[in-house]
Amino acid sequence: MTAQLIDGTALSRHIRAQIGERAAALAARGRRPGLAVILVGDDPASSVYVRNKVKACADHGLHSVLEKYEATLPQAALLARIEALNADPAIHGILVQMPLPRHIDPHKVIEAIATAKDVDGFSVHSAGNLMTGLPGLRPATPYGCMKLIESTGIDLKGRNAVVIGRSNTVGKPMALLLLQANATVTVCHSATPDLALHTRQADVVVAAVGRRNTLTADMVKPGAVVIDVGMNRNDEGKLCGDVDFAAVREVAGWITPVPGGVGPMTITMLLANTLQAAEGRP
Ligand code: GUN
Repeated sequence: MTAQLIDGTALSRHIRAQIGERAAALAARGRRPGLAVILVGDDPASSVYVRNKVKACADHGLHSVLEKYEATLPQAALLARIEALNADPAIHGILVQMPLPRHIDPHKVIEAIATAKDVDGFSVHSAGNLMTGLPGLRPATPYGCMKLIESTGIDLKGRNAVVIGRSNTVGKPMALLLLQANATVTVCHSATPDLALHTRQADVVVAAVGRRNTLTADMVKPGAVVIDVGMNRNDEGKLCGDVDFAAVREVAGWITPVPGGVGPMTITMLLANTLQAAEGRP
């Protein structure tokens, strides 16, 4: 059986259309959702990401400001800018693009952002809200993965889910979101001795390690939902995920492609978070 594709581009378009409508409704009431994006330094990949985020705002009726600073920007100056944006009523979400130059402590920066404007959901407060089941802003990539899983119509209750990767930005929040949806969750990582032992039991696998061919066909339960968060390059320089897509799609029931799976959802959920913040929903 060949897996059904989970089309992140199509789902993104659908959710973004709804966001556009809600943003317009808010704007009509004098509260246009606003996102501030801060880039420190000139990392080429980060420059592309922030440009895409700002463009997505413009495309869907959200206000955005892009602040670019030299890599030598002192940490105190960055913290002062965040303070000013915390107090700016036109800004409902603040995103500082990572990674930051080495002289800046990312934890200090993340914690400086007001919780209500933490649209990345990276702060200790936001992470605590997620862990304790309180409402709050969720990290965009795992939030998008949940939407992709939901789009299959599969109920996660009582299912085995395996997350490969334990980053603060994807793996850990992903595990918590799956747990909240009543899945039985296993988190695997670089020190897991037998990854396949776990993935073969899984009804849902989320691969988020950043290494291609981490999940191969022999490691997948027939019919499983496979979500590929990876963004790697193969030997020909082509974009690929963490999953051996061609082989795994012959075993899985559902699978996200790379590109066109998780990638488009990340910015979509950032927009959703900005809207949520502007609507004043916790
Ligand atoms: N760098 C790579 N991905 C992200 C993200 O989702 N948010 C921020 N702030 N920086 C990133």
